Amino acid sequence: MSDAMLSVSQIHCAYDSVPVIHGISLEVKEGEIVAIVGANGAGKSTTMRTIAGLMHPIKGHIAFLGEEVTQTPSYAMITKGISYVPEGRRLFSKLTVRENLELGSYTEKNRSVIDERLEEVFSLFPILKKRANQVAETMSGGEQQMCAIARGLMSRPKLLMLDELSLGLMPSLVEKVLETVVEINRKGTTILLVEQMVQEALEIASRGYVIQTGRIVQEGSARDLLESDSVRKAYMGL
Ligand SMILES: Nc1ncnc2c1ncn2[C@@H]1O[C@H](COP(=O)(O)OP(=O)(O)O)[C@@H](O)[C@H]1O
Ligand SMILES: [Mg+2]
Repeated sequence: MSDAMLSVSQIHCAYDSVPVIHGISLEVKEGEIVAIVGANGAGKSTTMRTIAGLMHPIKGHIAFLGEEVTQTPSYAMITKGISYVPEGRRLFSKLTVRENLELGSYTEKNRSVIDERLEEVFSLFPILKKRANQVAETMSGGEQQMCAIARGLMSRPKLLMLDELSLGLMPSLVEKVLETVVEINRKGTTILLVEQMVQEALEIASRGYVIQTGRIVQEGSARDLLESDSVRKAYMGL
């Protein structure tokens, strides 16, 4: 077994026995920001959901911190240290920011620990402190995305998985949200993110994988991928 934090080996995934992931392998080492990039429908979210334990591969293996977790359900993955922020934010729209955040730490029963984590995410996202008692659906898209990331951090994950953060955000906000991802990483959380915004994602990543119709077609350092002709032609319109 490899010494990576997360090791995905040759997974195949299907919906109602229709295969959509055809043997994907990838690794995330402790401390990295790894980006999986690719077009709409390539299989990014399916890969993320499978790692998070929301669905299980029909073939292949997943290991986290040296332990086999291929069939581990999502609630158990959270206690092992993986937090998944799904595509489209999925906040509880009628609940306040604080209530949404506290749901992210539902595995923790100690009130003072929860309060400590709230203060941590408020220091990372000061706007959420101001909006703490506001109902989630009344916030802007950018604020909702910050709330979704903050909720993902409330379980104090070792690996934070972020699905398509940029969706529906204007470019200046995308940049801001990605800067916060870098800050979260600097503070010690390993990051696996997927993005259709290939250039933006690779600019903050250490390594990347390019996914196309359920297969990894290219991988390497983020810098090499950014300079690669095929990546530039296919995803950056250059
Ligand atoms: N719930 C689902 N049921 C059936 N097919 C799905 C479902 N979700 C995704 N798919 C299909 O799986 C493939 C990969 O989708 P997805 O993982 O969502 O791609 P991406 O996140 O890269 O846009 C697509 O062909 C998509 O239509
Ligand atoms: Mg997706």
